[in-house]
Amino acid sequence: MVERTLSIIKPDAVQRNLVGEILTMIQKAGLKIVALKMLYLTKKQAEGFYKVHQDKPFFDSLTDFMSSGPIVVSVLEGENAIENYRKLMGATNPENAEEGTIRKKFALDIEKNSVHGSDSIENAKTEIAYFFNELEIVG
Ligand code: PPS
Repeated sequence: MVERTLSIIKPDAVQRNLVGEILTMIQKAGLKIVALKMLYLTKKQAEGFYKVHQDKPFFDSLTDFMSSGPIVVSVLEGENAIENYRKLMGATNPENAEEGTIRKKFALDIEKNSVHGSDSIENAKTEIAYFFNELEIVG
């Protein structure tokens, strides 16, 4: 099934000039970029995006980090895009990420883990709509 998923290249990766390398890995994996932009979230915008995690102990630290520098958000499209992108990202904690994944290659720790990807069709819809309107998505 052709799906869409939301990708975020997080502040740690943008700051280290890894945007090009990460987008290349995404495209080489067969995922098509159908929307793309750079944003610098406010703390409130980061809290809005991660509100499902608002009761987690790491919420404040995570939203501080996500509003600490520019991010690159994109919509990726392809067969099983949600699962395929999560496989390409690797485990949340880079210590557990497999060889060849984005997080194994670039992530610094469980917070500065370089990328985000939606985890379900429903969440992908909500997350894409948080950053993009229909006119900004091509294809
Ligand atoms: S959970 O509890 O299973 O729902 O959490 P998880 O899906 O593993 O992670 C959700 C997002 O929170 C980030 N995360 C953390 N940030 C900072 N500190 C700690 N300890 C931590 N644990 C998880 C994790 O990177 C996920 O970010 P996203 O952007 O969704 O990938």
